[in-house]
Amino acid sequence: MRLRGRKGIRESLESQPELVVLDAAPHMGKWREFFGNDNPIYVELGMGKGRFISQMSVRNPNINFVGVDMYDELLRRGSEKARLAWAEKGIESPPNLALLRANIEGIETMFAPGELERVYLNFSDPWPKGKHARRRLTHERFVSKYIEILNERGEIHFKTDSQSLFEFSLNSFADMELIMRNISLHLHKEGPREDLVFTEYEMKFMEKGQPIHRVEVVIGEEALRVHRARKLETARLESAQVEEDSESDDN
Ligand SMILES: C[S@@+](CC[C@H](N)C(=O)[O-])C[C@H]1O[C@@H](n2cnc3c(N)ncnc32)[C@H](O)[C@@H]1O
Repeated sequence: MRLRGRKGIRESLESQPELVVLDAAPHMGKWREFFGNDNPIYVELGMGKGRFISQMSVRNPNINFVGVDMYDELLRRGSEKARLAWAEKGIESPPNLALLRANIEGIETMFAPGELERVYLNFSDPWPKGKHARRRLTHERFVSKYIEILNERGEIHFKTDSQSLFEFSLNSFADMELIMRNISLHLHKEGPREDLVFTEYEMKFMEKGQPIHRVEVVIGEEALRVHRARKLETARLESAQVEEDSESDDN
């Protein structure tokens, strides 16, 4: 029987400590103990009903995922969704997923420096009024916290339907002299990108044909090294192709 009411929801959350974390403090710097392995940790800040983080955890069993939101009801829905997603694989309890009830404002008290490898920001609240700019999750004051807790392979992946939040965020990353890649103004223009997992909000906007904006921000030293090496290799292949083309034009 499904528990109802605020007390019922709280009881349901408290009854699944292997999945739902109501106090991050004891886990700070010790998330690998929670998961029981050294796999990289990817976090979604503001997971909502949890579709993205659940599907990601199923698709990537060698990565640990933490979905953060501040509402009990969303955690409850997320836990149901995650269990259903893993049940299809015959596994009762998601082995590589934690759903954390917390306010992102205090993120530096939830994860230790270098503890995370990726931060996902999916359809974060846009806070359109200028006076609320500091609340946007891509404001410099948040991004500097993410940089602290990301490791040498660290990246931030950001998706939004909001053009104004996207513009604000690109400027925020650029002002911090961060390297951005794979910038897209209309992610699903050529059809749904099935290689990426859609969030609940994303599916609503896609149905309406609204463009989704996306960017990846390369933070860690190793991530930057790999990014630069790939760019060099692409440039080398492109110039080899140009030479090949001009030789065949000459013949
Ligand atoms: C617009 S929804 C997006 C949900 C989901 N990522 C998606 O794309 O479907 C934003 C979510 O962020 C959560 N959120 C906003 N500010 C937060 C904060 N300071 N701490 C924790 N969660 C927050 C909200 O509760 C909400 O679930």
